[in-house]
Amino acid sequence: MCGIIGIVGTKPVQERLIDSLKRLEYRGYDSAGIAGVVGGHVERRRAKGKIRALEEVLAEDPLKAEVGIGHTRWATHGEPSTRNAHPQTAGRVTLVHNGIIENYAELREGLKAQGRTFESETDTEVIAQLLDHELDRGKAPLAALKATLDQLTGAYAIAILIDGEDQLIMGARRGSPLVVGYGEGEMFLGSDALAVGPFTNRISYLQEGDYVAIDHKGAKIFDETGKAAERPVTTVPASAALVEKGNYRHFMEKEIHDQPEGCQHTISAYVDPVSDRTRVPGEVDWAGLARIQIVACGTSFIAGLLGKYLIEQLADLPVDVEIASEFRYRQPALQANSLAIAMSQSGETADTLAALRYCQKRGMRTVAVVNATESTMAREVDVVWPIHCGPEIGVASTKAFTAQICVLTAVAIAAARARGRIDAAEEQRLVKVLLEAPRLVAESIKLEDAVRGIAQEVAKARDVLFLGRGPMYPLALEGALKLKEISYIHAEGYAAGELKHGPIALVDDQTPIVILAPFDSYFEKSVSNMQEVMARGGQVIFITDPEGEKHAPRGARVVVTAPQSDPLIAPLVLAAPVQLLAYYVAVQKGADVDQPRNLAKSVTVE
Ligand code: AGP
Repeated sequence: MCGIIGIVGTKPVQERLIDSLKRLEYRGYDSAGIAGVVGGHVERRRAKGKIRALEEVLAEDPLKAEVGIGHTRWATHGEPSTRNAHPQTAGRVTLVHNGIIENYAELREGLKAQGRTFESETDTEVIAQLLDHELDRGKAPLAALKATLDQLTGAYAIAILIDGEDQLIMGARRGSPLVVGYGEGEMFLGSDALAVGPFTNRISYLQEGDYVAIDHKGAKIFDETGKAAERPVTTVPASAALVEKGNYRHFMEKEIHDQPEGCQHTISAYVDPVSDRTRVPGEVDWAGLARIQIVACGTSFIAGLLGKYLIEQLADLPVDVEIASEFRYRQPALQANSLAIAMSQSGETADTLAALRYCQKRGMRTVAVVNATESTMAREVDVVWPIHCGPEIGVASTKAFTAQICVLTAVAIAAARARGRIDAAEEQRLVKVLLEAPRLVAESIKLEDAVRGIAQEVAKARDVLFLGRGPMYPLALEGALKLKEISYIHAEGYAAGELKHGPIALVDDQTPIVILAPFDSYFEKSVSNMQEVMARGGQVIFITDPEGEKHAPRGARVVVTAPQSDPLIAPLVLAAPVQLLAYYVAVQKGADVDQPRNLAKSVTVE
């Protein structure tokens, strides 16, 4: 994820911008840059590579400014280079950006048609060109920013300098976090509390769609409709761990909210948003492959099961998925010419590591889908597919789960293309669908108030059933695992079609039944299951999308409507309400959300 800092200062700003960017290095990056107002004009300094490369540029050519912005870039559109490094400039506008602008290609063509020329391959430059165009049309800076934001589709956090506006920094956020820092006669913008931590502990968290103007006098914040908005100023506790939690009560809550940015970071490593083609690390002979064997535990196993659905459906490639602790001892028969994939957030889970080594001993090529790229699994396999979602602290896995799904979705598309199951145009269509996921996940997280309302009732339950069909079956398993591991309520995930083969005996008017049913090819059958349980007094929590809500029968205890999405990314979009339900039930029960009893973040022993 990219890092952003902005300072409206009363003393030289260069060293403070650099200090802040160094605190953001944990987010991962491949180039860096700063810009500032020098004698009424904005100047830039940028460098490919690490911050020390930028410091070498500054040693030769310091930036003598008191108002400035800075950025560490994780390349999405356009390879890592000085030309593509931020800040990006167009006319009077210089800005830094974290996110993916989905409609940048159309916007770029429109601006070119108006005679504008582009310096970089980035989607970020499109924002700068658009804003400069709005300023050229005579709009004041904030009005020009609002007009620009209204044209953007995608996820972004931005900080902006305007030539001639010496004391002003503007910012905006949608799908990527941005905080406002309040100093003594100075003001700050940053990707998170850590970025502004050295300068102030008084911050406001901008909300989805907010935009802001800061100057020495303070901040003017506006909501997505353009109405002035008040955002509370909180004092962030000094301790680093607490600072990393931001304004969230628990790491799990923060990590659920980190998912739009996490997914965007993951996806940008596996697809090229310029060509809309996949780019999976390492060489795999997909056309010649006979089978895939996935081994994993817990939530990672469930992500692998979802991967089976995606890869078999798109690539027509057989996939076996097995719980590692069973696989490693049962002497499994393995097919030659198969690929073994270990799924593991930590890369240290003992059972998964043992299962992986079993496959290696039988000569299989091995891949690790991991978050910890320095882990044992990452060091022992032939190919690493990193999930790039940043450190996951909460024991209950959330952002790693959706990041794993993003990786396996890109892999399924790449395999399908390589095996001739889809043509280039279909690959590009599917990649565009995947690129919409961060924005739709951000929309889905907005359901938190609705879900919090249900949690009070679910917290009283003795048993909870989660039902789903197709790709929603693994998500039903995940919902049950999340609920039981942090709220200690017994929960079962079932393939909805299995209901009549036993679980329906559990249903009575005390049993919440969570049914995951986007309006897809399984919807009618899921509705039949819904009617079966309602006929027996079951209290149905129906999680669907707007089309599903329109077609669902009445009688559910509650309907939670997630954003409409292509079936390819529906599991990503419906994961948030499921995670939030578990979270708010656990909070309702006063459980230790981040360190649930008996559990560890990584089970490195059998
Ligand atoms: C998930 O919420 C649990 N914390 C647990 O099931 C976890 O997914 C499992 O222990 C596997 O961990 P790993 O991904 O690090 O291998």
